Amino acid sequence: MTTQNDILFAPLPLRNLTLPNRLVRSATYEGFGLPDGTPRAELADLYTRLAVAGTGTLISGFCFVSQEGRAMQPGQCGCDTDTKIGAWRTVVSQVKAAAPEVKLLMQLAHAGRQTRRAATGHPVVGATARRCRFFREKVQPLTIGGIERIVGEFAAAARRAQQAGFDGVQLHAAHGYLIHQFLSPYTNTRRDAWGEGTRLLTAVIQAVKASCGGSFPVFAKFSAADDRGLTVDDTIRQIRSVEADLDAVEISYGTMEFALNIIRGGCPLERVFDVNPLLRPVPRILRGLFRRLLLSEILKRQIPFEENYNLLSAARIARQTQVPVFAVGGFRRAASLRTALADHHLAAVALCRPFLIEPDLARQLRVNDAWVSPCNNCNICTVSCDAPQPVGCARKGQEPNHEHRPL
Ligand SMILES: Cc1cc2nc3c(=O)[nH]c(=O)nc-3n(C[C@H](O)[C@H](O)[C@H](O)COP(=O)(O)O)c2cc1C
Repeated sequence: MTTQNDILFAPLPLRNLTLPNRLVRSATYEGFGLPDGTPRAELADLYTRLAVAGTGTLISGFCFVSQEGRAMQPGQCGCDTDTKIGAWRTVVSQVKAAAPEVKLLMQLAHAGRQTRRAATGHPVVGATARRCRFFREKVQPLTIGGIERIVGEFAAAARRAQQAGFDGVQLHAAHGYLIHQFLSPYTNTRRDAWGEGTRLLTAVIQAVKASCGGSFPVFAKFSAADDRGLTVDDTIRQIRSVEADLDAVEISYGTMEFALNIIRGGCPLERVFDVNPLLRPVPRILRGLFRRLLLSEILKRQIPFEENYNLLSAARIARQTQVPVFAVGGFRRAASLRTALADHHLAAVALCRPFLIEPDLARQLRVNDAWVSPCNNCNICTVSCDAPQPVGCARKGQEPNHEHRPL
């Protein structure tokens, strides 16, 4: 395959920017934040490696827009204060100096009810008081003033990302975080005007445009559906109502209530007991009991891993909306990436875990049509997000790479 005719490496013109190719590193929590959320220098090294290999677009791990909106992960980065702009600028400059073509997007998130008071130092807030069964924290329903404050925090964070040199932002409207909590009929049963599902997302997009300028690129990540009743048809309607102001949407799945269904694959429970702050306190002697309870809960709802598992919903969304659509979830082969682009109306393809085991995979994709990711979806990376160390792949370097083998 020559790069010249290769759909995967063709530039992608969007409304306000052109991506150098169709290969996207999906947002991936890295764990490189200092305790206040300032990015550490290692983040720049990681992004540089991904970019120099030829990944066209890098989306940062989810960054909090306020301390209240922090997730539970201890090394999460934030963009909540002006004092962080300098550190972000250093990251962006280093990456762009090494790979001037790469596009960098900051993913902005407010965790809403999917966090712990112990992690944020603030009461946990949400669209309504409905608790998340995974976090089990008491949730304070947001007042109208609280919602308006958060809209302003997204806008201010986007402005800081812009000042630091990011090419755009991606709003995290997926995986059960605050914007998704407003989109979902299960968590948003408000009786005021904010009970209209897309109102928060619309307000955030408008506020970001007002503070960064209308031509500053804004992407959004959606869960096409979730385990609590949100359907692909709902998501199509929601995307249609905001697409005029978005440059692209990325399609994922699910919420943290059934976290394994977002990513699919293995459930390394021993590692969960070692690092998860909710389960770490369980005495060793009781672990067997908890393991059985957890497994029966998880297995009841678990959707097994299949390659390209969000492709068909993303393709449906692409056919029924005007905005360029990316898909993420289970892409593991060169051939599937190109088929998704050529036959399924997708504008780009995004991957997460394959980049953890093989940060240089873009280089492989240029030369090896038979590339298959060595990622086996063991999900040790996923559960290790709760540990204080940066996230990595437990098997990196142990696999004989690039043999064509069935997964
Ligand atoms: C270690 C890890 C960290 C993740 N962090 C984020 C994140 O910060 N923001 C986000 O939207 N999704 C995050 N995800 C989800 C991925 O972006 C992606 O949607 C999911 O892993 C499926 O893609 P994959 O099969 O290519 O891994 C994370 C997933 C993993 C495994």
